[in-house]
Amino acid sequence: MSLFITFEGPEGAGKSTQIKRLAARLEAANVSFIPTREPGGTLLGTRIRSVVLQDVELEVHPLAEFLLYSASRAQLVADVIRPALQSGEVVICDRYADSSAAYQGAGRGLNPRFVADVTWEATGGLRPHITVLLDLDPEVGLKRAAVRGQPDRLESADLGFHQRVRQAFLDIAAAEPERFLVLDGQRSEDELEADIWAAISATLTALGKVTTPDH
Ligand code: TYD
Repeated sequence: MSLFITFEGPEGAGKSTQIKRLAARLEAANVSFIPTREPGGTLLGTRIRSVVLQDVELEVHPLAEFLLYSASRAQLVADVIRPALQSGEVVICDRYADSSAAYQGAGRGLNPRFVADVTWEATGGLRPHITVLLDLDPEVGLKRAAVRGQPDRLESADLGFHQRVRQAFLDIAAAEPERFLVLDGQRSEDELEADIWAAISATLTALGKVTTPDH
């Protein structure tokens, strides 16, 4: 049985750290998995990533921005995620469609219905089984992200934008509680790792992918 796990959250919430820790847990439990990310994960996606994120000087209309993320997503689903799931793999994706709903829908103000429709086309309706949402106050998150260096296009947006993004993630999670594990990004890395592993190892055990859950 395949398993599609995504990580979401506002800037600086600690996704990368927790994805690395989950990867180490999976390796220790001998569970193979395919790590990927958005935007990116394919040759086209990597090119789109550099246009949409790194080239901060380039003017990109909100609609164009959304369509670029969607183009990266369509390629990633077709080339990587769907084939992996079809062969029964575990896929871990750093951001996915919820990021477009939050950043381009709530953040940039695009029509949520339109965002949902295009996302449906781009993904063929493919949704994650589990989404880990690391929630964090954007004032804290942006300070954390700033330590990492030059802000990218989205990090450069104002605080109000990031507050809308955070709230949108929480609203999406509240509407689909069975898919989401919502965690407070201010908790310690060890505590977050333990909670994430408890949820994911339980699912893997139910799927027969690990025999003894290792908490
Ligand atoms: P990411 O690589 O996860 O960076 P970070 O470590 O800053 O979270 O995400 C890249 C940026 O792209 C992030 O600011 C969120 C943004 N993004 C969107 O605005 N829409 C999308 O659909 C996706 C996938 C990402």
